[in-house]
Amino acid sequence: MGDIQGTEFIRRDSFLPFFRPDLGEAELSAVTEVLRSGWLTYGPKVREFGEACGRYLDVPHAVPVSSASSGLLVALKALGVGPGDEVILPSLTFVATLGAVVHCGARPVLADIDPANLGLDPDAFAAAITPRTKAVIPVHLAGHPCRIEEILAIAKPRGIRVLEDAAHAFGAEVRGKRLGGLSDATVFSFYATKCITSGDGGLVTTNDPEVARRVQVISFHGMDGNAWQRYTDKGRWYYEIVEFGYKMHLGDPAAALGLVQLGRSDEFMKRRTEIAHRFGAALAGLPGLTLPTAADWCTHAWHLYAVRVNREMIEGGRDGVIADLTANKIGSSVHFIPLHYHPVFREAGREFAPRLGQTERYFDEAVSLPLFPSMTDQEIDDVVTVVRESLRLRCR
Ligand SMILES: Cc1ncc(COP(=O)(O)O)c(C=O)c1O
Repeated sequence: MGDIQGTEFIRRDSFLPFFRPDLGEAELSAVTEVLRSGWLTYGPKVREFGEACGRYLDVPHAVPVSSASSGLLVALKALGVGPGDEVILPSLTFVATLGAVVHCGARPVLADIDPANLGLDPDAFAAAITPRTKAVIPVHLAGHPCRIEEILAIAKPRGIRVLEDAAHAFGAEVRGKRLGGLSDATVFSFYATKCITSGDGGLVTTNDPEVARRVQVISFHGMDGNAWQRYTDKGRWYYEIVEFGYKMHLGDPAAALGLVQLGRSDEFMKRRTEIAHRFGAALAGLPGLTLPTAADWCTHAWHLYAVRVNREMIEGGRDGVIADLTANKIGSSVHFIPLHYHPVFREAGREFAPRLGQTERYFDEAVSLPLFPSMTDQEIDDVVTVVRESLRLRCR
């Protein structure tokens, strides 16, 4: 990887980044207003943001946290996962999904994906269950929902807790219902590149008031309910630590940014979908290229547009296409290096899951093209031209 020479096909003056956040005057003034208010950390804006997210996702409890990484950890703890437990998750995900399991003291069990949607394969999940399986973390990769209904149907009767990693999928739907209230808990990311952003930030949603209460407490030092109010006129100095927790809550400036972005979520999703359709129409039918599609039972959030490049048909495979994109000043990425390939997990991953054939094949071929709401039509056309020319030149 990295030593393949790319060819310049078009003249671009500036670099097209893989992602550029869309922040306007409304975001700037919302954050400025909070800074002027003097309330810099957890406070009323965080609560307002949580409630607004809950309404948008149609789920009764939505707790903002400092990131999806911390949300996954506190949600697993709130669901009672700990040492001696096994948690099943796909290997094709970001390290945060695995980190949450390991930091709980539980044993991760890696399973394969369904290549149609890149999420956990329900059959692979069922095959990985043992008497110690306490929870499963299906990931909605790229914004396409995984086969969550089948996963729930396997997990529920066995008492296995289901925590969805929807870091990529804010606004995605399964049969007309937005993700967020389908399972025991769901975690979203508001990191800078995600569907909506609060800079860094995340959200845990659940239908279960007890899970929500524990997420709230564990993400706020283990302090009881209203401790955050202790510096307000309603507050008092006394609080109790009801369990050991973390400092993983969101702050008001981030929540103010998130609130404005939440109001733009439908607009962003519409533009992302438009761009995905433009890529789909312009790149359809090219030899050696497989495009992502959306199943008819879901609404894709189109966080990522990940194509597959066939190594036998295209000289240099996906690394060749990436070299050409780079030579034409276009950013790209790969989602993800499977967890079991990383040095720290290699041995463990192999031991836990000897066959992850779909994951490995996908990783060999995958490249994510830039897709973000503020992309101009010219930028979309540039990406299309470079991908088409790259495949034409490299086709064996
Ligand atoms: C699938 C997945 N889960 C979790 C995370 C963690 O998100 P955050 O950056 O908000 O901690 C990411 C981040 O990219 C991700 O891709």
